Amino acid sequence: MKICFIGTGYVGLVSGVCFSDLGNSVICIDKDREKLTQLENGDIPIFEPGLSELVRKNLDAGRLSFSDDLIGSIKKSDIVFIAVGTPTAKDGVSADLSQVFTVAKLISKRIKSHKIIVTKSTVPIGTGDKIEKILNKNKKKGLFTIISNPEFLREGEAIKDFKYPDRVVIGTNDKRVIKIFNELYRPIINKGAAFVSCSRRAAELIKYASNAFLATKISFINEIANLCEKVHVNIDDVSVGIGLDKRIGSRFLRAGPAYGGSCFPKDTKALAKVGKNYNSPLSIVNSVINFNEKRKKDIENNIYKILHNKIKNKIICFLGVTFKANTDDLRDSSAINLISKFVKKGAKINYYEPTGSKEILDKHKNVKYFDDLYLAVKKVDLIIIHTEWDEFKNLNFSKIKNNDKKVIIYDLRNLYDNRSFINKNNISYYSIGRPFNA
Ligand code: UGA
Repeated sequence: MKICFIGTGYVGLVSGVCFSDLGNSVICIDKDREKLTQLENGDIPIFEPGLSELVRKNLDAGRLSFSDDLIGSIKKSDIVFIAVGTPTAKDGVSADLSQVFTVAKLISKRIKSHKIIVTKSTVPIGTGDKIEKILNKNKKKGLFTIISNPEFLREGEAIKDFKYPDRVVIGTNDKRVIKIFNELYRPIINKGAAFVSCSRRAAELIKYASNAFLATKISFINEIANLCEKVHVNIDDVSVGIGLDKRIGSRFLRAGPAYGGSCFPKDTKALAKVGKNYNSPLSIVNSVINFNEKRKKDIENNIYKILHNKIKNKIICFLGVTFKANTDDLRDSSAINLISKFVKKGAKINYYEPTGSKEILDKHKNVKYFDDLYLAVKKVDLIIIHTEWDEFKNLNFSKIKNNDKKVIIYDLRNLYDNRSFINKNNISYYSIGRPFNA
């Protein structure tokens, strides 16, 4: 099929490339010419395992191209995906839909033959209706079908999530379009993905509700982890014990720092706002948002406790600063929040990060990037394992020495069994949701 993606951000780029890999002819459109040139050379502006190989493969096969010609590309396509950003608006809670509506207006002025227009961007309930209004206003009735087809891709796992999803959701009542999308996703459905067709509004809500539910699961287990620290229970036992109940499910039950990234914080707030707008308050979502804010403070306070409230001139080393492993994304990463707090209190920060140094951190005085993990942790007062990168899972502790001082580790991802440190007099190991005796 002939497809174009408007917006080559994370979602547009990954989805466009993966659709081309399924044999479709795909044009990825962006305004940024410099970025397009980079992509045409197979250089990927984001860190996503396997993506650059897939871009090169499909460029070479002639199924994938990049363009800044929006109108020309739409003309050549039967299906137009809108995959522009929907960041948090200036009010701090709603989704900013200005890019979506700008694109809708551009399409509406130039559309000449029937197109299926798909929102892939995460948008609040009713956005499809508003896009439809824009197109109808320009007397394009009958020339388009607007549908919703949300994405469920995780950064760092995006290609796998695209190719082997649990479900594909299509929001439209148009039977002809449902058939076309069933065909488009056939290779994926054949591998076991469920095909869910529902109303457009339901599809929009499925996306928000999915992210909010996953954020709820994480906050729930983080709160139980706090209790575990008080009642001398290991949170990992609890996660396993409850997760084996198929009604609960074992995934997204890893206790850790506050959840972050470009989606959960933004989408939970936007969903709560939608609830408020419709006079249907979402009290659970609101308490998840508040708990996650409190989580940041709780972890910060734990660190003060570990350091006996003496922060000034202490050297704190962060292992990993991204919001999770297998991404270079710092958006809403709890490490960034913690580092700026500690710097203000006079601490010195070392950090080692597998995806390299970060501009936003290098601006701080007293924050130093190391490209060697063992140099980063040398003679520091506290090591914080912040991100669950594989390379932190088998640290060589004999290489982490601190002269006559104890090595202190705060593992925010429970990468180690705390019992293995019991007889190690030279290491004090703290983790999440296990007895915390700082
Ligand atoms: C999330 C969803 O998982 C995707 O399904 C969705 O498509 C995407 O948002 C989106 O809306 O675009 P992502 O933000 O890439 O994906 O990352 P996740 O793997 O979901 O992790 C989010 C946060 O939760 C991270 O801070 C991670 O460390 C934390 N987390 C995750 C936990 O603390 N515990 C867990 O068990 C799982």
